[in-house]
Amino acid sequence: MSHGCTGGFEPWERLSFAWLPFGAHAMMAGRGEDEDGMESFRWHMPTEVVFGRGCLDDLGALCGGVGKRPLLVTGRHSARKCGALARVESQFPQAVLFDQVEENPSAETCDAGGAACREAGCDFVIGIGGGSPMDAAKAISLLACNPGSCERYYGREKFSKPNLPVVAVPTTAGTGSETTPYAVITHRREPSKRTIAGKTLFPMFALLDPTLSISMPGDVTANTGFDALSHALEGMASKAATPVGDVLGLDVCRLVRKWLPRAVAAPEDLEARGHMLYASMLAGCIIAQSGTTPVHGMGYYFTLAYGMPHGLANALLLPPLFQHNAEVIPAKVAAMATALGRPCNGTPEAAGANIVAALVDLARDCGLSLIGRDAGVQESDIASFASELYADRGRFKNQPDELSLDDVARFFRAALEGPEAL
Ligand SMILES: [Fe+2]
Repeated sequence: MSHGCTGGFEPWERLSFAWLPFGAHAMMAGRGEDEDGMESFRWHMPTEVVFGRGCLDDLGALCGGVGKRPLLVTGRHSARKCGALARVESQFPQAVLFDQVEENPSAETCDAGGAACREAGCDFVIGIGGGSPMDAAKAISLLACNPGSCERYYGREKFSKPNLPVVAVPTTAGTGSETTPYAVITHRREPSKRTIAGKTLFPMFALLDPTLSISMPGDVTANTGFDALSHALEGMASKAATPVGDVLGLDVCRLVRKWLPRAVAAPEDLEARGHMLYASMLAGCIIAQSGTTPVHGMGYYFTLAYGMPHGLANALLLPPLFQHNAEVIPAKVAAMATALGRPCNGTPEAAGANIVAALVDLARDCGLSLIGRDAGVQESDIASFASELYADRGRFKNQPDELSLDDVARFFRAALEGPEAL
């Protein structure tokens, strides 16, 4: 499964963080999307994206000026299985391998990686794999240069010394971590997902080579694809949405609708893999600016409590949240539904019904059940999930309206019952 990918991070403090969208734009999004005129915003995406079949073999040439001795950060199996590790090692004879990253990387693992990086004298970090290794690579890049444990750096811009450069090589299509400045870390003592964010954590290069994702199993393809879609939808719904992100987000919807079922059905279809890798990267660019919304914050409870894949957790929560969002930002949700293959007008009723139908269509075509009960969600947990999340106000900063505790509990329950009950 993807770990928390980029999402669920505490959304950026827009007003206190100069390079992020201005509050005026956020207010506009909160008032509704029907106002005319261009509000102010910022768009910062410093990652150099290199896309193409076989482009991983250009990594050595691309990174020649960055360093000679990278720390290769991977999971225990997938980077090997897809052949990426061998292809990178052949280009960097002095590379040092750190292959201990688990799904949902822990602070302890990142600490160990930071120590390994320092001890080996590595000059940059390459994360290869899904969101977990890429996020761990970012954390390790800063821990190699800053004292103490990972926990010390939860939050935004908490590290003072520059991190080592990071290169991201995604082998799944969903996390978008290759184009974000976030590392999502699992804090094990009080189980929770925490985020390290820093402008310099944007990877210097993201190498998108579709040949790397053909070994991804169908269920992982479907789950991670829904994560990418969730980033696009949440990024567009966010109070901090940008006009650039809105354009990209609708394209992500169209791409996912067309190519995700094909990638699930035909794992070796490089055209489908390439389009999904591209969509995932675009969705990463969106949330790098606008953050996610409570879909991610709520989904973490499913992942922490039941080990549910991150993308599946989001998929379960999207229908109730976006049926609700249709009442707040109906024209925007109607555009999402239309891009997902359910054309509709911008009334709240039509937008709500059609976004749910579009998500159900896509899940069906990818072989996913959107009934949380099927994935192990327990009714008896819902009240505590809701009250705990509701107390964590940072998770709601980007939601375009005020949600009550009852709303949150209702959404959890709807995810448990599935969209038929909506
Ligand atoms: Fe995510």
